Amino acid sequence: SALNVSEFLREHIRTVADWPSAGVQFRDITPLLQNPQVFRVLIDAFVHHYMDPTLRPDVVAGLDARGFIIGAVVAYELNVGFVPIRKKGKLPFTTVQETYELEYGSATVELHTDAVTRGQRVLLIDDLIATGGTMIAGVKLLERLGAVVTECAVIVDLPELGGSARLKALGKPLLTLVDFE
Ligand code: PRP
Ligand code: ADE
Repeated sequence: SALNVSEFLREHIRTVADWPSAGVQFRDITPLLQNPQVFRVLIDAFVHHYMDPTLRPDVVAGLDARGFIIGAVVAYELNVGFVPIRKKGKLPFTTVQETYELEYGSATVELHTDAVTRGQRVLLIDDLIATGGTMIAGVKLLERLGAVVTECAVIVDLPELGGSARLKALGKPLLTLVDFE
């Protein structure tokens, strides 16, 4: 019988032990992108979901850096625009900023103040959710500008790190394609 999409994609995610530090099992999505047939299955999984008229966004926002690769292609296929949420110091125009805690220290992400308009329906995309710090910072930036984050989406969920539960507690629907316990 046909492998389902989640099982198929899982087979094309590489796990690298002890990277970037001891004890981390790094889930590497580059093999998903490298193979054109697999890349198409990945993008089509998102596009088919968000083509539904009740779910189709007005714009896609992508998180630095791997959220750009997926988010831009999904936006193009949905015939909507793409806006980048970048790590601090990269965007040239006026920005809003959000700082969030990492395991050690903190990180800041930015969004151009004219990237979205009030009431716009936004789909926020990244490659992976772990603690949820990055995704939640993205939601806050978009909502500070009056946009409505209707959905969030990732390829990989690491549920043990709690991010998908944090997002659910905020009432944000999250589409995940592959879980790694
Ligand atoms: C990774 C991943 C997410 C984030 C998830 O990015 O691509 O953006 O971590 O972790 P969180 O849910 O705990 O916030 P990374 O910080 O490695 O940056 P990069 O995309 O620039 O490689
Ligand atoms: N970001 C945070 N944790 C990660 C992991 N285990 N693999 C890939 N990206 C990550």
